[in-house]
Amino acid sequence: MPLSVPSSLAVSAVARPRLLLVFGTRPEAIKMAPLLHALRADGGFEVRLCVTAQHRQMLDEVLTLFELQVDHDLDVMTTGQSLNGLCSRLLERLDGVMAAEQPDLVLVHGDTSTCCMASLAAFQRGIAVAHVEAGLRTGNLQAPWPEEANRRLTAVLTRLHFAPTESARHNLLAEGVADAAICVTGNTVVDALQWMCQHLEELGWQPPAGTLTQLPEGAPLVLITGHRRESFGEGFAQICQALAELARRYPQVQFVYPVHLNPQVQEPVHRLLDGIANLQLLPPQDYRHFVWLMQRASLILTDSGGVQEEAPSLHKPVLLMRTTTERPEALAAGCVRLVGTDAARIIAEVSRLLDDPAAVQAMRSASNPYGDGQACRRILARLRQHFGLVQGNPA
Ligand code: UD1
Ligand code: UDP
Repeated sequence: MPLSVPSSLAVSAVARPRLLLVFGTRPEAIKMAPLLHALRADGGFEVRLCVTAQHRQMLDEVLTLFELQVDHDLDVMTTGQSLNGLCSRLLERLDGVMAAEQPDLVLVHGDTSTCCMASLAAFQRGIAVAHVEAGLRTGNLQAPWPEEANRRLTAVLTRLHFAPTESARHNLLAEGVADAAICVTGNTVVDALQWMCQHLEELGWQPPAGTLTQLPEGAPLVLITGHRRESFGEGFAQICQALAELARRYPQVQFVYPVHLNPQVQEPVHRLLDGIANLQLLPPQDYRHFVWLMQRASLILTDSGGVQEEAPSLHKPVLLMRTTTERPEALAAGCVRLVGTDAARIIAEVSRLLDDPAAVQAMRSASNPYGDGQACRRILARLRQHFGLVQGNPA
């Protein structure tokens, strides 16, 4: 992955601070990939990567695409894993890595079980933690569940907080985190997305022959994703009911849904939506295909955190199938709308946008409140400052 990063100062190999990056799911991998490359290219640090493989196939696709060299693979995923089973495997296996690596700093990301358990494993070994994408909050422990708890617990254990936005910084300050421990960076997902868009453009990349190339040229495309645990059961039943009805009402529209591999998502989605001609149920798409789909989409219906942050860069409206969000910036900017998981509400909101091009136009964002593609550069600068490798202001 050819990233442009500042060249390093000469630092002897003996003196180099040891960094251990830990992640395990698809979104963490996408968001940490540009940072890993930036840190390794800098040369000022000894950088090691531990993947927990909380996700297996969905993680591996990102590792391959971004050419990420892995030092430890904990291979923790099991089918239909419970949160407690997952967390106990994570904590036990991460402890061995912490003991073997003895890093000066562990870098974790976001709000997954991997993030929370890696922070705890580091803390209990007396190792400092830096948290990337710190400070996001809904204020509601049930939504998203269990992520709101994961990120709050991680914050308590964190030495250095890389907050993507000013509002995330304020959340941390309100919890008593010292201002000096917070660095506002933008979200690294914008760095990753910009790299991918440039890569697709330079290669003139098109998907290989298959479902995506058979989508009718010029037909409006609604892109869908969904995986939140708090929507399992009735929430997914409602979402599927809405999609079936929308596909029936709008036969000229293509509905494209890469379905998350969680069995709690696969089962209802395939049971309720298989066999609808203009509704394509696909396996999860690798990031290259998914970015291509986002670029083609007329609108995006999702509950994803990362997609909320990416869509503004691509000027795509997002209807968010959740009751609350920890990412208020795009709501304020008008490019994301909360629609919940009630079928009637989803049908009404999607119909409004499909029937009225002006409503879509009104939701197109001018800029991305989540970042400018320079988040990794700021994190790198702050880490150099933290370890006394360079003086200066990362802004
Ligand atoms: C996890 C994170 C969530 C994040 C999401 C991104 C937690 C508690 N949840 O949720 O915050 O938004 O990832 O997608 O950390 N599976 C596979 N192959 C894969 C990936 C998943 O088969 O490559 C299936 C497995 O049966 C697995 C299940 O999905 O047990 C659930 O995976 P898990 O990571 O526990 O939860 P997610 O819903 O993916
Ligand atoms: N994504 C992808 N393929 C897909 C669906 C999503 O590459 O089929 C990407 C998406 O662009 C974003 C990230 O995965 O960068 C979001 O992952 P997800 O929605 O699973 O998790 P969340 O962001 O909600 O934690």
